[in-house]
Amino acid sequence: MEIIIRPTAAEASSLAARIIAKHLREKPKSVLGLATGGTPLPLYRTLIAMDLDWSEVITFNLDEYIGLPREHPQTYHSFMWENLFRHTNIRPENVHIPDGNAADIPAHCAEYEERIRNAGGIDIQLLGIGTDGHIGFNEPTSSLASRTRIKTLTRQTCADNARFFGSEEKVPKHVITMGIGTIMEARMNLLLAFGENKAAAIAGAVEGPISSINPASILQMHPVAKACIDDAAASALERANYFRWVHDNKPDWQKI
Ligand code: F6R
Repeated sequence: MEIIIRPTAAEASSLAARIIAKHLREKPKSVLGLATGGTPLPLYRTLIAMDLDWSEVITFNLDEYIGLPREHPQTYHSFMWENLFRHTNIRPENVHIPDGNAADIPAHCAEYEERIRNAGGIDIQLLGIGTDGHIGFNEPTSSLASRTRIKTLTRQTCADNARFFGSEEKVPKHVITMGIGTIMEARMNLLLAFGENKAAAIAGAVEGPISSINPASILQMHPVAKACIDDAAASALERANYFRWVHDNKPDWQKI
């Protein structure tokens, strides 16, 4: 895993935005895997300000809550349109977000996987990380080979996401999420993490053993996984200075 540590979330997000922008310019028909939550917001604002051409881009979101009406302000459908898509020229038919109201969830999950395959696979998968190490909503002990499916959130994730809903009780307990096996098939994984509350999860993912207890640790097995993190999220890494040294000494052409 390549660990890129920048002093602030804004600087780390700007670097991640440049990685994505470069890809979109080189391949207008890129397939992007997208994430929601607080972490990608500065990145999405930066991408919007770059005024890129999204007319041929295809997107697949990682996850969605089950059971909320689609237009509820906290669905990931609403989140994505509000914070990214409506500010771009993306075609609505190119946007894919799991349907948390699907009548047959297993069939919908299988179809979601098929759509990813039919689109040619994901070029860049954007990821946040939960305080328990989850990626997508693959909570600790998720199968490292899992595919898109229903998951039950941990109490910790419900508590972490209570800030979006006003209280923990209002957070839906069930979600549809891409599996870890699905995420690992993306050609590049780009993980973002900001703030001290992510430091333990990042240390486990980067320097700990590969284990379903910290699902993000599977990224150690991915050929092109980059983590853009701020100083606070890097604060529990034993080798933080080594990662800074590696980045500072890269040839310019290799920095993005
Ligand atoms: C969201 C997702 C989750 C979040 C994670 C961190 O689509 O898949 O894995 O990335 O829960 O959430 P924030 O960014 O709100 O700390």
